[in-house]
Amino acid sequence: MEPVRPRREITLRFLAEPTDVNFGGKVHGGAVMKWIDQAGYACAVGWSGYYCVTVFVGGIRFYKPIFIGQIVEVKATLIHTGRSSMHVAIDVSAADPMTGAVKKTTRCLIVFVAVDGGGDTVPVPPWKPETEEDKRLEQYAVRMATMRKAQDEELIAIDGPRKG
Ligand SMILES: CC(C)(COP(=O)(O)OP(=O)(O)OC[C@H]1O[C@@H](n2cnc3c(N)ncnc32)[C@H](O)[C@@H]1OP(=O)(O)O)[C@@H](O)C(=O)NCCC(=O)NCCS
Repeated sequence: MEPVRPRREITLRFLAEPTDVNFGGKVHGGAVMKWIDQAGYACAVGWSGYYCVTVFVGGIRFYKPIFIGQIVEVKATLIHTGRSSMHVAIDVSAADPMTGAVKKTTRCLIVFVAVDGGGDTVPVPPWKPETEEDKRLEQYAVRMATMRKAQDEELIAIDGPRKG
C-alpha cells in the first residue's frame, strides 16, 4: 500500500454509547476529552510519521451537551508546527441520526510532540498556511503559545522553577 502521509486532517465518526453517560444522563466531559486526544493523536501521527505525546490541552469550550445515540464527529486539523510540536485544532459536533440536525458541541487546542523510540523529540515536517483561513488559525495557535508562556511565568512566580 502506498503511504499517504503527511495528512493534515482527520475526522473520527461514531455513535455516543450508553457507556459514555455522565450522572446527568448526557455524554461525560471526560469521554469527550478522550475522543479529542484520540483524534489529535491520529492527526499528529499522520502528519509526522512518529509516535506522539500530548504536551498541552487548552482552550477547551463545551458549547452544547452530546446525548447518547447521537452521531459524534471529531475533526482534528493541524494548524501550526514548531520543530517537534504539532498544534491541532479540534472541533466536535453531534448529529441527530433521525433528523440529521447537527450542532457544534466542543472546541479545543491540543499540542503534540513527536518522539523517537528513546523518547527524544524529533523534527516534524513544517506546515505552511496557504489560505486566509489557515493563516487565521495559525495566528490563533501562536497567540495561544504566547498566552501559555505568560501562564507558565505565573506558575513559576507561585511554585518556583520546575525541577526534575
Ligand atoms: C514531550 C517531552 C519529551 C518533551 O520534553 P521537553 O523537555 O519539554 O522538550 P522541549 O523543551 O524541547 O520541548 C519540545 C517541544 O514541546 C513544546 N512544549 C513543551 N511544553 C509545552 C507546553 N506546555 N505547551 C505547548 N508546547 C510545549 C516545546 O515548545 C517544544 O516545541 P518545538 O520542538 O516545536 O519547539 C516531555 O515534555 C514529556 O515527556 N512530556 C510528557 C508527555 C506525556 O506524558 N503526555 C501524556 C501522555 S501522551
